[in-house]
Amino acid sequence: MKSSAISSQGSILLLVILLSTICLVAEAQQCRPSGKIRGRKAPAGQCNQENDSDCCVAGKMYPTYTCSPPLSGSTKAYLTLNSFEAGGDGGGPSECDNKYHNDNTPVVALSTGWYNHGGRCHNNITISANGRSVVAMVVDECDSTEGCDADHDYQPPCPNNIVDASKAVWKALGVPKDNWGGLDITWSDA
Ligand SMILES: *[C@@H]1O[C@H](CO)[C@@H](O)[C@H](O)[C@H]1NC(C)=O
Ligand SMILES: *[C@@H]1O[C@H](CO)[C@@H](O)[C@H](O)[C@H]1NC(C)=O
Repeated sequence: MKSSAISSQGSILLLVILLSTICLVAEAQQCRPSGKIRGRKAPAGQCNQENDSDCCVAGKMYPTYTCSPPLSGSTKAYLTLNSFEAGGDGGGPSECDNKYHNDNTPVVALSTGWYNHGGRCHNNITISANGRSVVAMVVDECDSTEGCDADHDYQPPCPNNIVDASKAVWKALGVPKDNWGGLDITWSDA
């Protein structure tokens, strides 16, 4: 009787140790905010809200990230719509080549961590959703570390899990135009 009570205490202890180890490992793989910035209101007419772009709200705190979630063979992400053309809602020219890009070509910006200091510039990624896939070229960074300034069209810092895509990508995935703007996808290096 006594010895079985001890051994069941022992196995509970083991279980607790096991569970907390799993939690620690899972935590190490998470990408946590690196800081936060306070929203500033855009000067009149400077935040283009076409295509559901968000404008910073004065005084609101936005988390920033230098990391993105770890990559798997098919990494989950959130697809958003961006214009890479001059005068579009993407702010300045693309980070990879300092150029604008035609929205009829499948091009994307990746959150800072996945952009990897330009390590994916001009590489192609495969984006899957809706039972379809499209190959798109990485041309820009969706900056998770800064925002709410002229360089970022007074939009908040990018979340850490964004694939921000030209309309060509949305078209190729067969998403009805009314639903363009936000979609759960998976992606991998092509
Ligand atoms: C909104 O999206 C459409 C489709 O990509 C694009 O033609 C248009 O230029 C965008 N508007 C802005 C202001 O970016
Ligand atoms: C990515 O795809 C484009 C268009 O198909 C192609 O021109 C380019 O060479 C590809 N880039 C790489 C790094 O393979």
